[in-house]
Amino acid sequence: MTAYIRQVSLRADKKEEIKRSYLWSIPAIRRLKTIELSKPVTFLVGENGSGKSTFLEGVAVASGFNAEGGSKNFNFSSRDTHSKLHEYLRISRGIPFARDGFFLRAESFYNVASNVDEMEEAREGLYDSYGGASLHAQSHGESFMALIQNRFWGNGLYLLDEPEAALSPARQMALLSLLHSLVRQNSQFIIATHSPILMAYPNADIFVFDGSGVHKTPYEQTEHYFITKRFLDQPQRMLGELLGPDETE
Ligand SMILES: Nc1ncnc2c1ncn2[C@@H]1O[C@H](COP(=O)(O)OP(=O)(O)OP(=O)(O)O)[C@@H](O)[C@H]1O
Ligand SMILES: [Mg+2]
Repeated sequence: MTAYIRQVSLRADKKEEIKRSYLWSIPAIRRLKTIELSKPVTFLVGENGSGKSTFLEGVAVASGFNAEGGSKNFNFSSRDTHSKLHEYLRISRGIPFARDGFFLRAESFYNVASNVDEMEEAREGLYDSYGGASLHAQSHGESFMALIQNRFWGNGLYLLDEPEAALSPARQMALLSLLHSLVRQNSQFIIATHSPILMAYPNADIFVFDGSGVHKTPYEQTEHYFITKRFLDQPQRMLGELLGPDETE
C-alpha cells in the first residue's frame, strides 16, 4: 500500500506552547498522541467543531500545501487565519515524494477557483487541468468533480475537507469510484467528512474526533452510519421523536 504520510503525532516538546493557544480547548487535539495512517484512505469524522478541519489543515501546511487549499504551487492567501498546529505536529513520511497532491477544502474552494483564473491569465492552457473551463463557470458540484477528474493525476497525496458538501448522493457515489481508481494509481487520501456514503469506502480507517479524543471506529459503529440508517429505515418514527407525534401526519 502507498503511504506518503504514515503517522501524525502531536509533539510532546511543544505542549506548553499548545497550552497557550485555543488549540488546547479542542479535546481531540489536546488528547492527540499518534494517528497511524496505515490504509490508502483515512477518514476523519465527528461533530461540528470537533477539530477535523484544524487537524487536516495542520497536516496540509506541515506537508507543504497552502492553508486555503490547492496544490503545492498555490500560495495565495485571502485571509491569514490558519492555526499554528502545523508547527506542533510530527509527520512521519513513508514514500518520500508524492508526485502529485492537492488540498481541497469546501469552505475556501471559491478562492482556489479564483486563483486558477488568475493563473490561467498568466499561463494559457491551465484550464485543461480543471475541466476545460473556469471553475467559476461550473456549478459548485460540477467544478468539484471536474477538479478531481482532471487535476488529480495519481501517485499523489490528497487531503479533502468535506468533498461531499457540493455533491448529490449520486455524485458522492461517483466520487467513490474516482477515489478507487486513484488509490489503484498509488494515491493516499485523508478525508474529513460527514458523508455516510463516502465513509463506506472499503478497507479505510475511520477516526472519530470527540470530547474524549480520537478513536478508530468501525463503519457500522459510527454515529453517521447508525443515525442515517435509523432515519431512513423509519423516517416517520424519527420525525415523531424530533417534531412531536402530531406534526408528522
Ligand atoms: N481562530 C480560531 N480561534 C479560536 N477558535 C477557533 C479558531 N478556529 C477554529 N476554532 C475552533 O476550533 C474548533 C474546531 O474547529 P474545526 O473547524 O476544526 O471543526 P470541524 O471538526 O472541522 O467542524 P465542522 O464539521 O463543522 O467542519 C471549533 O470549536 C472552532 O470554533
Ligand atoms: Mg470542518
